[in-house]
Amino acid sequence: MQDCENMQQPGDAHHRMLIYKEASIRGAWIWWFICTLLSLLHGVISETSRALDIMTKYPLIDGHNDLAVPLRRHHKNKLSKLSMLDIPNAATDIRRLTAGHVGGQVFAAYVLCTAQDKDAVRLTLEQIDVIRRMCTENPQMELVTTAEGMGNSTKIACLISIEGGHSIDSSLPALRMFYLLGVRSMALTHNCNTPWAETSSSLYSDYQQRNDSLTDFGKAVVSEMNRLGMLVDLSHSSWETAKAVLKHSTAPVIFSHSSAYAICENTRNVPDDILLLLKKNGGLIMVNFYSSFVACSSDANVSILADHFDHIKQVIGAESIGIGADYDGAHGFPKGLEDVSKYPVLIEELISRNWTEEELAGVLRLNFLKVFRKVEKVRDDMLHILPSEVEISLSEVNENCRAKLVPPGKPSLSVLEVHQSSRGNGNTPLRPVKALICFILLLITVTLN
Ligand SMILES: *[C@@H]1O[C@H](CO)[C@@H](O)[C@H](O)[C@H]1NC(C)=O
Ligand SMILES: *[C@@H]1O[C@H](CO)[C@@H](O)[C@H](O)[C@H]1NC(C)=O
Ligand SMILES: *[C@@H]1O[C@H](CO)[C@@H](O)[C@H](O)[C@H]1NC(C)=O
Ligand SMILES: *[C@@H]1O[C@H](CO)[C@@H](O)[C@H](O)[C@H]1NC(C)=O
Ligand SMILES: [Zn+2]
Repeated sequence: MQDCENMQQPGDAHHRMLIYKEASIRGAWIWWFICTLLSLLHGVISETSRALDIMTKYPLIDGHNDLAVPLRRHHKNKLSKLSMLDIPNAATDIRRLTAGHVGGQVFAAYVLCTAQDKDAVRLTLEQIDVIRRMCTENPQMELVTTAEGMGNSTKIACLISIEGGHSIDSSLPALRMFYLLGVRSMALTHNCNTPWAETSSSLYSDYQQRNDSLTDFGKAVVSEMNRLGMLVDLSHSSWETAKAVLKHSTAPVIFSHSSAYAICENTRNVPDDILLLLKKNGGLIMVNFYSSFVACSSDANVSILADHFDHIKQVIGAESIGIGADYDGAHGFPKGLEDVSKYPVLIEELISRNWTEEELAGVLRLNFLKVFRKVEKVRDDMLHILPSEVEISLSEVNENCRAKLVPPGKPSLSVLEVHQSSRGNGNTPLRPVKALICFILLLITVTLN
């Protein structure tokens, strides 16, 4: 912008100024105006191109995307009838992920809390199936299960997560089978308590908690996730549960899609004292873009979103921050950030706030990879430990929709019967009325979804 500086001081035209004084002053002002405009524009353009440069070098790994929800809701998981390049009624598709410089995405297999104690496990399997199909049937995507696979992928790397502990139906064997299917992260709760961990939400009233919000079985779940090498995700957990997990976990944990409580006082966000515990744990908070969590209103913009990044950086440092925008998991995103193609807008804003390339490289992907690698390291250090055989006690779960494993007719002394008899109340066979109620609830759930 060398020319502009000269224009602002038209000194070489001094003699002409005497004659054309009025006109020159007016001219100078016009030039000044144009130059200011140009340099502002230049700043914006250079920030845009710097953001794109940095994102090309460090493609984003986002911690939470709910595309599988509209795939079920609007398309019944029928991928053969869809092009992943352009998906109607969704904020995510391959075209927009590419435009947004997304190099890795954690896709959530989420099922409604109303499926808890009903068909949550089947529905979760179906959501895992649709994510696996999406990521293996499209040449632009790649299903990964390791930090190395994610870090080295030249495609859109897909990692599968489960959103809500209700998906494992209080069963460690079910958790392990999900791991075998490629699941590498699980949020302990969604908007409902599980029998062993507590949610930040008051939407549902099932399973009021005891024992500092992480029961003995809850601790067993966290330990087993540590042993398997699965990321423990505390987004949606209550603060008490989060603190108990931060105390218990031997591996770093993540908040896959939560923002800063100091900027927006929503219980889904993370308060400073927990941020400090998270830093001590070596974990990561991946900032959520949903307007209600960013601005505590439906009216948010990139500026207030960037305030969350600045705040968390100030409290625990940029190396503890990632991005988990929550696209397709919520309705209402900040102006200019409506879908997955818009991430560069945030990076521009952070550049204008003097975030360095190193800090941004971390936020975009390196911080997540570091935590994932550490979780794998903790797993490798525990290779000698056998799978946990801890079971939740039947008094802690809702037995209504659990089959009693007793053959029809006269009950025989099966292993399970002995186990139940020893508790003193396990001999009632599943009554027809109960079975009918369960069947109707099942039908309602399937219809609602
Ligand atoms: C990519 O793969 C190489 C060789 O297998 C490995 O050394 C490197 O750490 C990997 N990169 C990432 C980011 O994981
Ligand atoms: C609650 O904590 C106590 C003491 O640590 C323990 O004996 C009990 O088994 C725990 N209950 C559950 C449900 O975890
Ligand atoms: C963003 O929103 C805040 C209020 O939430 C407002 O003060 C600010 O001016 C807005 N910034 C931009 C760039 O629109
Ligand atoms: C960024 O750095 C420049 C130059 O050091 C400074 O003038 C400006 O105030 C800083 N901006 C912010 C938002 O910190
Ligand atoms: Zn969520």
